[in-house]
Amino acid sequence: MKKIIIGNWKLNLDHLEAIQLLQKLNYSIEEDKEEKIDIVVSPSHTSLRSIQTIIDTDKLNIQLSAQDVSQFSEGPYTGEVSSHQLNKLNVSYCIVGHSERRIEFNENDEIINKKIHNLISEDITPIICFGESLEQRNNDQYLDHISNQIDAAVKGLRKDKVNNLIFAYEPIWAIGTGEVASAIDVVEVLSMVKEKISEKPFYDSDTVRFIYGGSVTPDNSHELLNSKIIDGALVGGSSLSVEKFVKIINSIDL
Ligand code: PGA
Repeated sequence: MKKIIIGNWKLNLDHLEAIQLLQKLNYSIEEDKEEKIDIVVSPSHTSLRSIQTIIDTDKLNIQLSAQDVSQFSEGPYTGEVSSHQLNKLNVSYCIVGHSERRIEFNENDEIINKKIHNLISEDITPIICFGESLEQRNNDQYLDHISNQIDAAVKGLRKDKVNNLIFAYEPIWAIGTGEVASAIDVVEVLSMVKEKISEKPFYDSDTVRFIYGGSVTPDNSHELLNSKIIDGALVGGSSLSVEKFVKIINSIDL
């Protein structure tokens, strides 16, 4: 399975800064890495058009992700962006279920499930985030919690419709905190999720990936990214530094 590294730029960078970061990144990534690893950037909606234009005209080996999509398809929903609108911008991936959206914007499992269906109907790969709080981990409830999140996220998915899926284990206590989950913790969770997903009718071992996110840096990426079970990383803070992001990419042994 080809590994994937996704830079989640979150609410940072105006579109001019985003263009600069993309161009620097493109010059800094070694060619063979670009071919053997899927490299994805996820800017704010306001930068999608500029980034997509550069990727398409300069034929970059970097792919585009959105950070969010509406649960609705069209209509009177001020401020929303639909999966169809993202598709028209050649967006290949979209993050859904991130804990920042679950917590700060009250997104529940039902909304997340609708977003996943909308993305799949427009051939956009959802990057489905899930993960426990520190309290749930300490109380040994994390596997049950994650299992419920996964069931709710994939509800109603049909084999004939699903092409690609990414499941991203993002423990809340590791996001933006500098406290990374150990490879053992990540493997435990992703193995459970993989086992669960591999029983679903839509599962395809060639196209479904299981990744990790939460304080990934060049100091911890080698162990995480060279585990057989871990297919890649969703990188927040470190993706805003070209140097760190490229080091993370380079830490994958090819
Ligand atoms: P972080 O964020 O790398 O800054 O911890 C990861 C994420 O939220 O995807």
